[in-house]
Amino acid sequence: MRLSFITLALVSTLVLAAPQVEEKGDDTVQLCATHASSEDYKLAERAVAKALEMEKNSEKAILKAQLKTLGNIKNAKEDSDRIIKNSKSLGVEEYDEYDVDDLTEEDSLKTRPVPTAKSTSSSSKYEGDSNEDEEKPAIPIVRVFFNIVMANRTFEGGNIPDQMILRQMIVLNDNYRGSGLTFKLAGVTRILNLDWFTNVGFDTPQEDAMKRRLHRGDATTLNVYTVGFVTTPGLLGYATFPWSYKDDSLNDGVVLLFKSLPGGGLLNYNLGRTLVHEVGHWLGLFHTFEGGCFGIGDGVADTPPEAKPAVGCPVGRDTCRSAGVDPIHNYMDYTFDACQNQFTRGQIRRARQISSIYRGL
Ligand SMILES: *[C@@H]1O[C@H](CO)[C@@H](O)[C@H](O)[C@H]1NC(C)=O
Repeated sequence: MRLSFITLALVSTLVLAAPQVEEKGDDTVQLCATHASSEDYKLAERAVAKALEMEKNSEKAILKAQLKTLGNIKNAKEDSDRIIKNSKSLGVEEYDEYDVDDLTEEDSLKTRPVPTAKSTSSSSKYEGDSNEDEEKPAIPIVRVFFNIVMANRTFEGGNIPDQMILRQMIVLNDNYRGSGLTFKLAGVTRILNLDWFTNVGFDTPQEDAMKRRLHRGDATTLNVYTVGFVTTPGLLGYATFPWSYKDDSLNDGVVLLFKSLPGGGLLNYNLGRTLVHEVGHWLGLFHTFEGGCFGIGDGVADTPPEAKPAVGCPVGRDTCRSAGVDPIHNYMDYTFDACQNQFTRGQIRRARQISSIYRGL
């Protein structure tokens, strides 16, 4: 359901009238279904503490990585073009895919142990100067598999053009430019399944079936599933947290409304920032409004606390008494795509700490 202007006006009036009220989320908005439980907080903090212990070199590594990221983005773009060119459009019953690393189905289904940040990095997921036996190579590469679930072959049925996937990859790399992470398209799978397109949602049997069939790679691999969320209108996406990988590796990944991709036609949310937001969760970040005004909030010191999600682009909004206006331009809020343009240094640092511990990135 779309928010009407009246709802928006009501929300902001209430917020202005009661700025100190702490509320968990916002009943009227549920754009992303990924919310942090107390267990999630515990596991995130554990990772941050562990990462801090091991972190002597990583600050340097992140800086070094940032310098190299631009070159990598260029490579990623070229790779994406090549992969799309080689991808097949799949038939109804066929199930086929192109994979840049020529993984076999068996390889990909093997559950690999969660890499620890200490493990030696012979893996090809790193680029840059990985020649020496440095503990932490500069450029972690996240391989990305797009799984396009379609009701039929029309755009309305979820059959998004390759060009949209390419543009989404560019947005993703662009918006993570400061992070030292690089995202590389590794394969595109298209599959017709009306039930999944219609009914996949957070914790549904359809989600389970879809992911069991399509998921590939390991803890460092990002699986993106685009669906229609027909039975959960208003939902744009959701993601799994890094600490969940260990116990349910096939469930790992991001589920997205296909219309949220760049050019996807969804009003106010079609510049590709939904995936940027969900990947934030996938790397261990919480919503900026998580926890409301008090407590540790999203666990990040340089994102001012926020009582509840912001929608639209309410510049100057300030819902908590503590210092700082609401981080409405942050990718981890609910504001319109055009309103979002930042992760903070604290978020990048936390995402890197957590994903290094739980994903080996
Ligand atoms: C394709 O699927 C969409 C979503 O279920 C539906 O709205 C549309 O009518 C379908 N189009 C055709 C031609 O079947």
